[in-house]
Amino acid sequence: MGGKRVTDNRNITWHDYTITKKQRRNQNGHESFIIWFTGLSGSGKSTIANALAKALFIRKINNYVLDGDNIRHGLNKDLGFSAKERTENIRRIGEISKLFVDSGLVILTAFISPFQEDRDQVRQLVESKEFIEIYVKCTLDECEKRDPKKLYQKARAGEIKNFTGINSPYEEPVNPELVVETDTLSIEECVNKIIIYLETMKLI
Ligand code: ADX
Repeated sequence: MGGKRVTDNRNITWHDYTITKKQRRNQNGHESFIIWFTGLSGSGKSTIANALAKALFIRKINNYVLDGDNIRHGLNKDLGFSAKERTENIRRIGEISKLFVDSGLVILTAFISPFQEDRDQVRQLVESKEFIEIYVKCTLDECEKRDPKKLYQKARAGEIKNFTGINSPYEEPVNPELVVETDTLSIEECVNKIIIYLETMKLI
């Protein structure tokens, strides 16, 4: 298949790929899309993403998890936690996620992604069925009680500035595809809820 070429004013030319997203999906035998987890630090995003990854893997659905703590060790190690840097963090993850969708995989992302506008920007990068925003909902009190990395403690002591929920905002999703409440549901129940949603939407 011949690709279309578009050159912009920096003389950078976009090449369409020979193998299409549709062909990759056909070969994989499933759809490709982004499952975007958002929520406070300690709410359970990474735990649920990993449990879901396992559940999908068992179903032979090829998937991969990207998570804030890991990505910030490599690709995004130049970024801190100012609003501007968080926006850039999410922009890059959005672009990577789009590539995963093009490659025919299911991509699970676990980032606080505190700003609605940033999440909406990612949503706009892909087709409407390809972005599933899941709000991992947990009260700040409960996250602070869990405090698995003892970061809330440090933030309260003034040792971390701009800590989400303490001295940096978290904007709850306005219209997420799904909400999972980790202060009342078990990890397994959250994963089941997501699987049922994906089945209902004929995504898996
Ligand atoms: S985001 O806001 O830009 O989406 P991201 O998910 O990548 O954040 O990273 C959040 C993780 O970084 C937290 O789970 C926590 O372990 C760590 N962290 C370090 N400093 C901060 C901070 N100031 N605010 C929130 N998380 C922080």
